Parts: sequence; structure tokens; C-alpha cells
Amino acid sequence: MAVSSKKGDKSDILVPAHIGVIMDGNGRWAKKRLFPRKFGHREGAKTFKKIALAGKEMGVKYMTFYAFSTENWKRPKDEVDAIMKLFEDYLDDVSSFEKENIRLIFIGDRSRLSQNLRDKMKHAEDISRDFDSMTVILAVNYGGQSEICKSVREIAKMIKNDELDIDDIDEKLIEDNLYTRDIPPVDLIIRPSGEMRLSNFLIWQSAYAEYYFTDILWPDFKEKDLADAIKAFSDRSRRFGGI
Ligand code: IPE
Ligand code: IPE
Ligand code: MG
Repeated sequence: MAVSSKKGDKSDILVPAHIGVIMDGNGRWAKKRLFPRKFGHREGAKTFKKIALAGKEMGVKYMTFYAFSTENWKRPKDEVDAIMKLFEDYLDDVSSFEKENIRLIFIGDRSRLSQNLRDKMKHAEDISRDFDSMTVILAVNYGGQSEICKSVREIAKMIKNDELDIDDIDEKLIEDNLYTRDIPPVDLIIRPSGEMRLSNFLIWQSAYAEYYFTDILWPDFKEKDLADAIKAFSDRSRRFGGI
């Protein structure tokens, strides 16, 4: 499936075409330093930019970053507000991505986000539409279960309108109605911060993903840690059910 060998690299490292990153551990990073949690989110945002650019340098074509889950609304309002404010500030400055020819896409339910944030997301998508060095996907108010519900609702609508038959439902049709419609399945999922779970991230798309867990907290995650994860991926034997 979707793996590519890095061009020009003499080593035999297989670079995943699509990496998913669960950007976890911001709160604990701040707590360790006796800072408010929002400081951790601010550092985490810097790490996001750094690791996305590093991924591009290493030849990764798609990187999806989990920034805010459908469950993260359970947090105190001031923390949620601080995270939303960070997204807005962030989208005012996507110039470093523009310079690198990186396309930016958002996945998740935008209906609960402010109009201002939605406008900025759309603007960032519009200006980067034809950039092709790499695609960065930011998952904001994203949940894998809610994404599958959305796909099912859209298919049900087509059946109700007699545009489809129940027997037409297959994996491809479900995929075609996910947010990630035009994006290849995820090859490698990286989760820092010591937690070993998916927390509702890309649950459909990761059916055959490899997983890489590390205790490093996201704001401390460095280019070298990404290289280590890619190396670990490259050493795995993926069989996709074959032998
Ligand atoms: C991830 O860091 C960021 C979001 C979920 C928005 P956390 O805020 O979950 O950090 P920890 O897990 O509390 O350390
Ligand atoms: C997952 O982290 C969501 C993001 C990183 C955006 P959480 O901190 O929300 O996950 P749990 O609650 O530990 O499972
Ligand atoms: Mg967390």
C-alpha cells in the first residue's frame, strides 16, 4: 500500500506516504513546568509547524495532525477558548507553509466552530489548493465515529432518493463519504505522551496502520523523534492479511 522510498536517499528506509500524529501531552508538559495548560498548547502548536516541515523534508506526502477531538469540548471553557484562539492566530500566519508549497486541508465538523475560524480555514484551503509538495491535514473537532455516522447519513440520503441500492454499499462507498475522501489510508500513527490508544482518531483509515508510541510529550517532540518513528515503520513487516 501507500509507502514510498525517499528519493535520493541511498539508505533503504521506506517512508510512509501518510502519517497520522496524535498531538498529545501539551497539558502535562505545562504542568511539569508549573505553567497554565494553555502554555503547553502554544508550545504544541510550534511543534506542529516544525514536525510538518520535517515530514516534508523526509519525503512524507500526507500528514494528518489531531488538534482537537469531538470529545475535547468536555474540557473547561477557558481551555477550549484558548485552543480555539490559538487556531485563529495560527491561521493568520500560514506563510511558512505557503513558502514550502504545502497544501492545507481541515477535517472534522466545522459547524460548532466560530464563523471567524471557519472563514480562516476556508481561506487557508483556498490559497493552498494547488500546492503539491505535501498535504497537511489538520483534524479540528474531528471524531472517527462521528465521521462514519456522517458517511452513513449521506449514503442513506442517496438510497432514499433512489440514487443508490443497498447492495451498492461497500468499503469504497463508505470511504468516498468520509472527510478523507481523496487522501490515502494512514500508514503510520504516532502517539507521543505515553498513552496507547487512538482516542477516536482516523479509526476507519487506520485499519492497517502501524502504530508508534513514545513517552515524549508533544511539545518536546523533535525532528529526530519523527525520523525514529519512520525508521521503526520501515523495519516493520506489513502483510495486509497476506503471508
Ligand atoms: C493534546 O494535549 C491537545 C489537545 C487534546 C487539544 P492535552 O491537552 O491532551 O495534554 P495532556 O494529555 O493533558 O497532557
Ligand atoms: C487526543 O488526546 C486528542 C488530541 C490530541 C487532539 P486526548 O488527550 O483528548 O485523549 P485522551 O482523553 O487521553 O484519550
Ligand atoms: Mg491528552
